[in-house]
Amino acid sequence: MARGAPRLRRRPSVLALCLAVAACLCGGRNAAAAERKTVGVHELRRGDDFSIKVTNWGATLMSVILPDSKGNLADVVLGYDTVAEYVNGTAYFGGLIGRVANRIAGARFTLDGKTYRLYRNDGNNSLHGGHRGFSKVVRTVKEHVGGGDSPTSLSTTIASTGSKAVDECWRFPGDLDVYMTYQLSPPHVLSVRMNATARGRATPVNLAHHAYWNLGGHGSGPVLAEAVQLLASRYTPVGAALIPTGDLAPVAGTPYDFRAPGRAPAPRATTPTTPWTAASSSALRPGARVRDGATGRAMELWADQPGVQFYTGNGLGGVRGKGGSVYGRCLETQGFPDAVNHPGFPSQVVRPGQVYRHDMVFRFSF
Ligand SMILES: *[C@@H]1O[C@H](CO)[C@@H](O)[C@H](O)[C@H]1NC(C)=O
Ligand SMILES: *[C@@H]1O[C@H](CO)[C@@H](O)[C@H](O)[C@H]1NC(C)=O
Ligand SMILES: *[C@@H]1O[C@H](CO)[C@@H](O)[C@H](O)[C@H]1NC(C)=O
Repeated sequence: MARGAPRLRRRPSVLALCLAVAACLCGGRNAAAAERKTVGVHELRRGDDFSIKVTNWGATLMSVILPDSKGNLADVVLGYDTVAEYVNGTAYFGGLIGRVANRIAGARFTLDGKTYRLYRNDGNNSLHGGHRGFSKVVRTVKEHVGGGDSPTSLSTTIASTGSKAVDECWRFPGDLDVYMTYQLSPPHVLSVRMNATARGRATPVNLAHHAYWNLGGHGSGPVLAEAVQLLASRYTPVGAALIPTGDLAPVAGTPYDFRAPGRAPAPRATTPTTPWTAASSSALRPGARVRDGATGRAMELWADQPGVQFYTGNGLGGVRGKGGSVYGRCLETQGFPDAVNHPGFPSQVVRPGQVYRHDMVFRFSF
């Protein structure tokens, strides 16, 4: 949501379904140039029991190591062992999704009287930024804060070029500067902060972080022992091709009602619609709580976005990550899907001079 853009007084939160669909690499010279840039793995650490690894390939979160109630450490996010597998991968494991996360119907939208056509990578729709979304670019590491052998903060940046520039892969209007910062703070808190500034033209922006969590440990098998609570009272029903109808329906009496604590959803629940809640402000607020009964690990996700999408990995298919593990769930805070084509949804348009901001805070306990 752009600060300063026209916005509704009551802003709903979303719990939406996304499908992991291949984002093939653009064959052009920009793709080749990006791949020649240096890609590395950076570790942030706080104390001897809390650390993460991030690669500047897509600003991707590769691992989160945490203790459980008995002090046993485990990596609680799905992913791959090597950066090469992320380059190849199609599951958006741990990546930053943009310029517009989720679907844009018909891969087209009209803004300020001009119609923009995007790359179709999900049937007739654009998904997760299209042909070469933000999860498939090399980012520049700007800052490593904390010093010495155990930095606690890492900032990365990319300049996303629009359709008038050389990179024809993305086809969004205008250039965009995008920053993302990972930070660890006590006792066991991971903050993910994103901002984006439009240069030259107004553009839709909807960033999302796509980590799949398994609090039992990435290799512990199905997430059946995990209870999920989503503080979402409304959702966005979808029609054909998972595009929202534009309604905001109450979750009460539907399979998308996760308001009560302690509900354990089916491991591969098929959720054909995209739930949302009403929220009164863009302040940081709790959106989801997850607890693993077996290890006692718990996670509370706070964010400042209108929605949260809960994806149960239905589209992962046979994708195998670290150690062959396949089970996990994605909790993505974001704006509403296809908002650029729904005037009734909170606007995602960022105009030159405005700043898009998106903060997520993961509070872990055990
Ligand atoms: C990339 O994908 C291809 C085709 O699926 C596969 O043969 C290759 O081993 C993969 N490479 C890596 C590094 O995962
Ligand atoms: C794409 O749109 C065309 C024309 O409306 C339609 O015939 C086709 O079935 C659509 N394809 C998908 C995958 O939805
Ligand atoms: C965006 O985030 C970066 C990294 O934290 C920061 O240096 C920059 O000032 C932020 N931009 C704005 C406009 O707030």
